[in-house]
Amino acid sequence: MYMLLYALFNVVLILFIVFFFLRTQKDMPKNWKEFVIEFKMQAGGTQALIEDTFLRYKNKVDLIQRPNKIAVMTGGNRGIGVYTLEKLLKCSMTVMLGVRNPEASRKSIEKALGTELTKDKVFYEKCDTGDMKSVREFAKKVQEKFSAIHLLINNAGVMFTPYNLTADGFESQMAINHMGHFLLTHLLMPQLIAGSNDNDGKNVRIVNVSSCVHKKCDINYDDFDCQKFYYPADAYNKSKLAQVLFTKHLQVLLSQSGLKIQTNSLHPGVVDTELFANSSTDYIPWFRTLLFKTPEEGSRTVIYASISPKIEGKGGVYLSNCTIMPPNSLANDPQECKKLFDHCCKLLNIENFGSLN
Ligand SMILES: NC(=O)c1ccc[n+]([C@@H]2O[C@H](COP(=O)([O-])OP(=O)(O)OC[C@H]3O[C@@H](n4cnc5c(N)ncnc54)[C@H](OP(=O)(O)O)[C@@H]3O)[C@@H](O)[C@H]2O)c1
Repeated sequence: MYMLLYALFNVVLILFIVFFFLRTQKDMPKNWKEFVIEFKMQAGGTQALIEDTFLRYKNKVDLIQRPNKIAVMTGGNRGIGVYTLEKLLKCSMTVMLGVRNPEASRKSIEKALGTELTKDKVFYEKCDTGDMKSVREFAKKVQEKFSAIHLLINNAGVMFTPYNLTADGFESQMAINHMGHFLLTHLLMPQLIAGSNDNDGKNVRIVNVSSCVHKKCDINYDDFDCQKFYYPADAYNKSKLAQVLFTKHLQVLLSQSGLKIQTNSLHPGVVDTELFANSSTDYIPWFRTLLFKTPEEGSRTVIYASISPKIEGKGGVYLSNCTIMPPNSLANDPQECKKLFDHCCKLLNIENFGSLN
């Protein structure tokens, strides 16, 4: 039944791709390689939509009280992040947000969540995760304010953006979605370790918000910055795979160090947010309203990864629909995970990640 539905969806999908590409401003895949990437990604998205439909009933998470505990999250001013923030506040946590525009973020969050919930509980600091200088400055602000943190959610992201090299020389989707979060995690490790000594015996958690499309690619170390070949969906998928490989190897280091810190990656679901502004679905918003998860539903797996006792001690796993799911097979190869990790350390001039190795 599942396979039949999947096959049917794929046929409809090919027709959809052709139709939407003809109707939208989005560039058509220009060659076979781009078409294969586009098809694989759309098929992965369709499969994820079906999974979301069948597994929607699993998207439940208890909002356990965590008073006096500190969370740091990137993004959070819109999309899935707002509802993640709301749930963290309902768990009585204090949250420091790393956002591109702190004042505008404060206004939009107070409008969305009200001041009663947010007053003295949410702090806003500037952080552009695509700019390593900004990430360093943000980490400093966090360190000045909190000596210990108990949860880090690497949430900020962009999708399918046009080719751009950042000031640090990274392809922008890889920079914003992965490299900035890699650096931030490294810089905040002393505070995470301090938090692990003060967390009621529970593991401190590092949550990397990846995507199901991470399964549709591999990492090309010969062209990490996509200077030779760039297709927006391919670069997005790669950045999301990097997050999963990073999570896996970081967990190895954390376990070897005997620290009470765990890290997990996840797919929040296919969620109706502005992330799709550069996608073909922007042409048919009703499609998203009808079939995609709401941002509130999308926040549930993020919160599950952040606080659920059901995965306590299960670091390194990949989650979707509040369930442990298999990641890209590359993530099951410790050498591949280490390779990505070492590559990023080299690019960022990190000699000893979080003083763990
Ligand atoms: N929506 C989905 O279906 C889906 C599926 C799989 C994975 N995800 C992942 O879920 C996460 C949240 O996505 P979303 O759907 O909530 O998207 P969204 O509504 O577009 O929100 C993206 C968030 O990231 C922030 N952001 C973007 N670029 C940034 C930068 N350079 N520095 C700091 N913050 C930046 C945005 O802040 P600004 O307002 O400043 O732009 C915003 O808060 C992303 O990592 C995404 O890849 C989403």
